[in-house]
Amino acid sequence: MSATQHLKNRRTSAIAKGVASRGIYAARAENAELWDVDGKRYIDFAAGIAVNNTGHRHPRVMAAVAQQSEAFTHTCFHVAPYESYLALAERLNAATPGDFAKKTMLITTGAEAVENAVKMARAYTGRSGVIAFSGAFHGRTLMGMALCGKVNPYKKAFGAMPPEVLHVPFPNEFHGVTVRDSLAVLENLLRSSIDPQRVAAMIIEPVQGEGGFNIAQPEFLRALRAICDEHGIVLIADEVQAGIARTGKLFAFEHAGVAADLVTMAKGLAGGFPLSAVTGRAEIADAAPVGGIGGTYAGNPLAVAAAHAVLDVIAEEDLCARATEVGDAIKARLISLAARQGMEAIGDVRGLGAMIAFELVTDRQTNNPDPDLTQAIVAEAEARGLIILPCGTRANTIRLLPPLTTPMPLVEEALDIIETSIEAAINAAAVAAE
Ligand SMILES: Cc1ncc(COP(=O)(O)O)c(C=O)c1O
Repeated sequence: MSATQHLKNRRTSAIAKGVASRGIYAARAENAELWDVDGKRYIDFAAGIAVNNTGHRHPRVMAAVAQQSEAFTHTCFHVAPYESYLALAERLNAATPGDFAKKTMLITTGAEAVENAVKMARAYTGRSGVIAFSGAFHGRTLMGMALCGKVNPYKKAFGAMPPEVLHVPFPNEFHGVTVRDSLAVLENLLRSSIDPQRVAAMIIEPVQGEGGFNIAQPEFLRALRAICDEHGIVLIADEVQAGIARTGKLFAFEHAGVAADLVTMAKGLAGGFPLSAVTGRAEIADAAPVGGIGGTYAGNPLAVAAAHAVLDVIAEEDLCARATEVGDAIKARLISLAARQGMEAIGDVRGLGAMIAFELVTDRQTNNPDPDLTQAIVAEAEARGLIILPCGTRANTIRLLPPLTTPMPLVEEALDIIETSIEAAINAAAVAAE
């Protein structure tokens, strides 16, 4: 029995079924490559779901964590605070979009950042309503799942959702929803379903992650900014997946030229160590009562040290430019692949920076989704040594999240695998249909 099979068997009997996992059991990883317990090598275009933007085990990150571990690994910021937390807050206050006074809190996960941003917005406004978008993913905690714009699996079995959480269609022209359509629904919602004076916050991913790498058009984000300003609603940018240089800017909202009031970030922030943050307008961040926000592990010193190193690496290695370079190369190759005869299953190629996706359809007239082909391509790629992830509300999108430090020859190798995997999956589907 292979080492992988042995672990799969143990997993089945020991781990809760609802915790989804792929069948690749990691043994070690370096930059954009990962080796499993049987010694098989993979190119990692999942990057731990947009976490390893600086690659696995970036030497600067590892050195910073090692150095911090010589001093202390945990004190709890509420008990014995430390300078590195303050310095990181200062860096994030300066780095996030918006020319106004800002403050930061550090926590541990993306969902926690979302929860705390909503709590700040509620405390500041004295209101409780929250508006989110269809296809959104904001985490698996109680408020996080309520904000998700997808029922199955995120809120299917988990009882009543918190009240006054409302959803508006995310504009997606490929799926026939224009910016005008979305704004019309939003305006109608504020007329017919909830008094704008009851809405504390509006939360949006500038590029939807789990929802299918759908890009919010700059004019849409600007319109939301204006609506929030009109009604005193706190605009929250959920940059947990799109942030930290992934889209070619440190924060994806920068593409729109407007600033949110609060920004949530996590994933790429600490290069593989658990850390998240809420940064935003000082008066909103300050609204929660003392002791009302925080947590035992929030702003763990090892993760904070990693985050400082990540921000240094992004600046020194110009990873925003690298995200654009890598993303452009991938997008160009996918677009020319989609134009080839026999590749009609590729219905759409889209992306911002190195956050790229392609959507599989049964035919280009109807754009009907092809989730089976999507799964088959992911499996073919895995067999050939490339880790890629499906996403999308219709389960027919493949997302590519290369570490921003991936060397160009590895990018090319991964693209070759994607091409042969798509061909193999399409051929297999044709044979099965005969
Ligand atoms: C946009 C967004 N928000 C929030 C989350 C939740 O983050 P976490 O899984 O760290 O709780 C995710 C995770 O994928 C995400 O993509």
